[in-house]
Amino acid sequence: MLTAYKGNIIEAKSPTELGLYPNQYLILEDGILIDILPELPANMQEAEVTDFGDALILQSFCDMHLHAPQYEMTGTGMDLPLLQWLNAYAFPTEARYKDPSYARKKYHQLAKELIANGTTRVSMFSTLHTPATLVLMEELEQAGVTGLVGKVNMDSNAPDYLRETTQESIQETLRWLEGCQQFSRVKPVLTPRFAPSCSPELLTFLGKVKAERGLPVQSHLSENVGEIAFVKEIFPDCGEYWQVYDKYGLFDSHTLMAHCVHSTQTEQNAMLKSGVRPVHCASSNNSLCSGISPVGHMIRQGIGVCMGTDVAGGTTLSMLKTIANSISASKDRYIMTGDESQVLSIEEAYYAATSAGQTFLGEGEGFVRGKALHAIVLDDTHLPLLPGITLRDRLLRGAFRLDDRNITAVISNGIRRK
Ligand code: GUN
Ligand code: FE
Repeated sequence: MLTAYKGNIIEAKSPTELGLYPNQYLILEDGILIDILPELPANMQEAEVTDFGDALILQSFCDMHLHAPQYEMTGTGMDLPLLQWLNAYAFPTEARYKDPSYARKKYHQLAKELIANGTTRVSMFSTLHTPATLVLMEELEQAGVTGLVGKVNMDSNAPDYLRETTQESIQETLRWLEGCQQFSRVKPVLTPRFAPSCSPELLTFLGKVKAERGLPVQSHLSENVGEIAFVKEIFPDCGEYWQVYDKYGLFDSHTLMAHCVHSTQTEQNAMLKSGVRPVHCASSNNSLCSGISPVGHMIRQGIGVCMGTDVAGGTTLSMLKTIANSISASKDRYIMTGDESQVLSIEEAYYAATSAGQTFLGEGEGFVRGKALHAIVLDDTHLPLLPGITLRDRLLRGAFRLDDRNITAVISNGIRRK
């Protein structure tokens, strides 16, 4: 079936270039994007056209780092640094997901909220519990959220109530991977929580599974100074944090590393060389007082930075707010360092929030012709008229001034979900 959406279309073609299509049509056949055109082609006069008037049509968001079980604690408990915060707030919350029916209720709500916020693609941490992780994948798939979900591995440096033995972690990972076969739009990602949570034996197993099955990996890297010191202490043979993951075969172009706030130039060079994708989490870096990431510097070197909310270290599920927070944080970095090249442009921030994640998920940049459409409609038409405002500035203004209430349509994988 032929359909079309009409509006002011903006795509993230590269970190430095927006594709702008004022008052044009996204042309679809059975949910697959065929083209973006200024007029409806002659053979499409019968097509079902939805006209969004003067609103913006954007790529939907890729939230490439968040913790599903922590959604319920968003906006609370932000008075401790990372390692203490995990013990005081995150771990007790995650323990509740031992109960799959509790997980069902919470994850159903989370999946709905993601769609409401225009996030149709994710890379997400669950908990160490296999049943709840499968429930999460089911709820996401039903709501139309696509992407990656990981059962968390943690056999070390965690409380008794939220720790697996190494054998349990290995067996449960295999059992979970078996269960994942039922899903078509949500796929597994291996998820060593972070280096301190995993014994060398468990990391060895995960590296082997990754190599054998070609699975992606997600974890945390150089988020907080206390964490980095702890990693040095427990992995004394690794000179820098990234070398722990590298040593076990968990550091390549199919790897997402959340935060990278304190990554040295050597660590950044290693990410560039291996194609590892840092996930910038501006809200969380501020809330947990982790630091201000050199994200502009990383992007300018050609590192494929993605963006994440890191709920619930981060205070919002909104990727619009996350774009705004990222731009603000990059200016704080400039103020602190005097290095103006740290400042993120809207082109870079929108790209990191959309196309960067898409490329990690194997979809290509921008509105991908020949693939199922992922898009949102952002209605800014109630904002004061600013004569001559460009589409670029409307995108920037939207990030700072709008939220889920202004996202009036969401199309995921070719299907309208809002
Ligand atoms: N490092 C290890 N676990 C976590 C977590 O749950 N949140 C954040 N922000 N960092 C982590
Ligand atoms: Fe995190």
